Amino acid sequence: MAGCAAIVRGAFEDVRAGACLGLVAEDAGRVVGFVVYTPAGTFVHSGYVRSVAVAPDAQHQGIGGRLMDAAEAAILERGPNVFLLVSNWNTGAQRFYERRGYRRIGEVPDYVRRGITEVLYRKTLGPIQRDA
Ligand SMILES: CC(C)(COP(=O)(O)OP(=O)(O)OC[C@H]1O[C@@H](n2cnc3c(N)ncnc32)[C@H](O)[C@@H]1OP(=O)(O)O)[C@@H](O)C(=O)NCCC(=O)NCCS
Repeated sequence: MAGCAAIVRGAFEDVRAGACLGLVAEDAGRVVGFVVYTPAGTFVHSGYVRSVAVAPDAQHQGIGGRLMDAAEAAILERGPNVFLLVSNWNTGAQRFYERRGYRRIGEVPDYVRRGITEVLYRKTLGPIQRDA
């Protein structure tokens, strides 16, 4: 998937520029995973997980879950919602997010690449405004 490297590079450039925050997981000095997020990257008010990935040989050991735990904790400190997009073909990642409490709330066709629909997911503790 040639597009993946470009997406990862773009995410890390945004971390370097200060537009996003990033966390990495290391194992014996080797980076085996990362998450890139921003506390207010969606609709001005809400957090956005831009990218999470774990090296193929390090998957299914809970590393992705722990990276998401850390990003979500930082986001939920600031507000009650986390959003993310995942490509419609990426059913493994969709299952991963759904198990973590994300709900599919919409679709954004042709957003990243023509012909591919991005699925919008939300994990929420409640609305932004508290009930009166
Ligand atoms: C999605 C992704 C980040 C998950 O990372 P991961 O480190 O494998 O995540 P976890 O190990 O926490 O959980 C993955 C699965 O392993 C299972 N698991 C967790 N710990 C486990 C363990 N110790 N033993 C066996 N299985 C385990 C989880 O139940 C989970 O099951 P699920 O696939 O049904 O959700 C990883 O698959 C990935 O990098 N995919 C490619 C990039 C990508 O698609 N990113 C998302 C879009 S930007």
